[in-house]
Amino acid sequence: MNIRNIPFGRPMVDEAERDAVMAVLSGTQFVHGPVSKEFEAQFAARAGTAYAVSVSSCTAGLHLSLLVNGIGKGDSVIVPAMTHVATAHAVGFCGARPIFADVDPVSGNMDPTALADAIDGDTRAIMVVHYLGLPCDMDRIDPIAASAKAFVVEDCALAVDAYYGDRKAGTLGLTGCYSFYPVKHLTSVEGGMVTTNDEAVAQAIAKHKAFGYDQMLGQRAKPGIYDVDALGYNYRMSEVHAAVGLAQLDKLDAFQAARKENFKRLKLALSEIAEVTVFEPVIGKARSSHYCLNAVLPRDGSISRDLVVSHLKEAGIGTSVHYPRAVPLMAYYREKFGCQIGQFPIAEWLAEQTISLPVGPHLVDDDPEYIGATVKEAIARAK
Ligand SMILES: Cc1ncc(COP(=O)(O)O)c(C=O)c1O
Repeated sequence: MNIRNIPFGRPMVDEAERDAVMAVLSGTQFVHGPVSKEFEAQFAARAGTAYAVSVSSCTAGLHLSLLVNGIGKGDSVIVPAMTHVATAHAVGFCGARPIFADVDPVSGNMDPTALADAIDGDTRAIMVVHYLGLPCDMDRIDPIAASAKAFVVEDCALAVDAYYGDRKAGTLGLTGCYSFYPVKHLTSVEGGMVTTNDEAVAQAIAKHKAFGYDQMLGQRAKPGIYDVDALGYNYRMSEVHAAVGLAQLDKLDAFQAARKENFKRLKLALSEIAEVTVFEPVIGKARSSHYCLNAVLPRDGSISRDLVVSHLKEAGIGTSVHYPRAVPLMAYYREKFGCQIGQFPIAEWLAEQTISLPVGPHLVDDDPEYIGATVKEAIARAK
């Protein structure tokens, strides 16, 4: 077998993105301009929400979603134990306390029963993370949120174009927060977007991403004159970043079709390996955005993930782990809240016994079958 070079993800940019960037750089407006406005308009249309506000990252979007809706000191916010730290950090940025809930072993999404148990008298919001792009069980989560009088923020970092019934992820909560980090479904190099149907929330996020200005650049009657009525941040997306994102939107249908097909082929190739199970891309009403394929090793630890991953690496196959530790067991959170090993068994198992395999549009020819065959070889050796 020839060794290949298949990274976990590769940004798919060509002349279209380069030309778009050069067009911005050939002008004079690098921020507050028409390109980010157009990116927002096209993204909102695709997501199916009335508003989309561009931001500098998904993390910034998560932070602002909580902040502008009043989350602060004394509040608690429920966060799944298995997610990127960004979801929990956003809570801490507001001075509030994240309370972690374990996840479901079949989907990796927040377990509604654990969510209900985690809610306390201070709970004001719930961070719903669509794990690897599969929407959470909102039919069970919504009533729990309603009875706690908590609003829902969706972390859609990996859930572009994922569906729950006939609705897209990002339209299910008060806001949906997307990431355009280089290896995501689409990239703006760095960047993010917040979608919402609530006009006041969209306006508050737009204000807080730009210092708290009372009038944006284009709205000022007297040039250079503005007031500031909020403690805002600089979380803006530049025109250069927006130009890349906008060019990527034109290609997104093709990217998504390739992901779906690669996922299907890799899943088939893995189906003959008894020791590996795969997170299903469709569960009930939820349909995944196929961010990656999560190969799950036996829970008894009989197969060393390290050995499998290093064999794949030798064969030129890049992998990732989502995520390498349950968030409450990351050093910062462990120190702050004193969580113990064994408190979030499913999240801990996913952190230790799963491998994220590539299915992005950068795969060519029979790459999915090559990855499947190499996993098979690796498992045989790791036994
Ligand atoms: C679930 C989740 N949320 C948030 C983020 C952070 O996104 P960003 O890098 O755009 O801030 C990530 C990053 O991968 C993620 O996986």
